[in-house]
Amino acid sequence: MGHAPLLMIVLAAGKGTRMNSALPKVMHKIAGRSMLGHVLALSGQSETRSVAVVVGPDMDAVATEAVAHVPSAQIFVQHYQRGTADAVLAAREALQNHSGDVMILYGDTPLLQPETLTYLTAALDAGAHVAVLGFRAKDPTGYGRLLTDSRGDLQAIREHKDASDDERQIDLCNSGVIAFRVPRLAELLSRIGNDNAKGEFYLTDAVALAREDGLRCVVVACDENEVLGVNARDQLATAESIWQTRQRAALMRDGVTMIAPDTVWLSYDTKIGCDVIIEPNVFIGPGVTIEDGVEILANCYIVGAHISAGARVGPFARLRPGAKLGTNVHVGNFVEVKNSDMASGSKANHLAYVGDGSVGAGANIGAGTIFCNYDGFTKHRTTIGEGAFIGSNSSLVAPVKIGAGAYVGSGSVITKDVSPGALALERCEQEERPGWAEKFRIMMSRRKAKS
Ligand code: UD1
Ligand code: MG
Repeated sequence: MGHAPLLMIVLAAGKGTRMNSALPKVMHKIAGRSMLGHVLALSGQSETRSVAVVVGPDMDAVATEAVAHVPSAQIFVQHYQRGTADAVLAAREALQNHSGDVMILYGDTPLLQPETLTYLTAALDAGAHVAVLGFRAKDPTGYGRLLTDSRGDLQAIREHKDASDDERQIDLCNSGVIAFRVPRLAELLSRIGNDNAKGEFYLTDAVALAREDGLRCVVVACDENEVLGVNARDQLATAESIWQTRQRAALMRDGVTMIAPDTVWLSYDTKIGCDVIIEPNVFIGPGVTIEDGVEILANCYIVGAHISAGARVGPFARLRPGAKLGTNVHVGNFVEVKNSDMASGSKANHLAYVGDGSVGAGANIGAGTIFCNYDGFTKHRTTIGEGAFIGSNSSLVAPVKIGAGAYVGSGSVITKDVSPGALALERCEQEERPGWAEKFRIMMSRRKAKS
């Protein structure tokens, strides 16, 4: 079905006083991405032609974040926060240059699903001029109430502070998302006044004005969890938890096993293949891809890593940005991998730091091996050839190369390149004094008896 081109306006000028934060509210993150980023991600999937974002003064970070997500976004500054209608009018120029539908979204509603927005445009296609996304609230306190007529059409939206006791009994609430198919919308919004409990220009008053003009206003209902508005940090945590629950369910549906799903934390861009098993207490930050058949054992912390099919990670492993594990790689307990490639079948099973390195296929990194990548000024690379064996407790002082198939004897401090197939050993020769221990014990126990 062909929709009219859509202008999406995202309101993000509010300071978010209730967050008690130096950061503008919409910059707070859910699953590793700003709330604004979540809302703007919706513009990619719908019929959106253009995006406008309304920010407050001194909110360069918000403008930058908006453009990072939608490079073509037009940014408008609302100099004084005089209410949501005033905020939309800050983008008057975008409204006037646009002919088609307009959808208003709030930057603090990060859980919306793209399909839901298509229900709103579908309502416009079915003849409505204004479609408001509503929901039944368990606790409607604070939300605008949707007042409907006997046909179920929307008559007006009453803000909580302005509502009568009877109106406050209504649990059908305004999510904040409103779609308009109204010619000269800016003119309609300019008629909104501020004679209300907060002295603000409420966007929600557009509904009553549209009705006066004989336009049809309707409610499209959605699940409460989708439209949670984040005004304070407890709601931020609630939104995070709803997002996580939803995403875990989607992954399990797609073939991921989680022994204790509630203890697995995902990011907005986490990609996990089929038949992956994730044990309890795993944190996955942004930029992680996990291919089919991988096992992530308990208590791992993984950010910016690519884990190829059949690999095994953990328990207690840390993969940092740029960690690339090939197929069937093993990274075991207390191993940290950063900005390093580990080729197919290579292993670092215990207590190692693999930083700024390349590990050849099938190589074995012994317990306690450290890639000494940093001299206090610059980072240097360590390259380990295929099938090499690095003995336990070795320090590889980068830049350094260990040839294919070479051996490094345990406890060595390697500062020079090692040829393929060679043994490199860097430690004092072992000394042995026969019978020493017995003599030592006798001497010490006599000494103790005297004192
Ligand atoms: C608003 C709605 C309410 C709805 C609720 C849903 C109005 C008048 N009320 O109330 O009906 O139930 O959202 O969460 O619209 N903003 C600006 N400039 C302003 C004021 C707000 O850009 O001058 C932005 C904020 O950054 C925020 C959004 O608009 O992203 C909503 O503002 P907020 O103060 O959170 O409104 P609510 O009180 O939650
Ligand atoms: Mg709000």
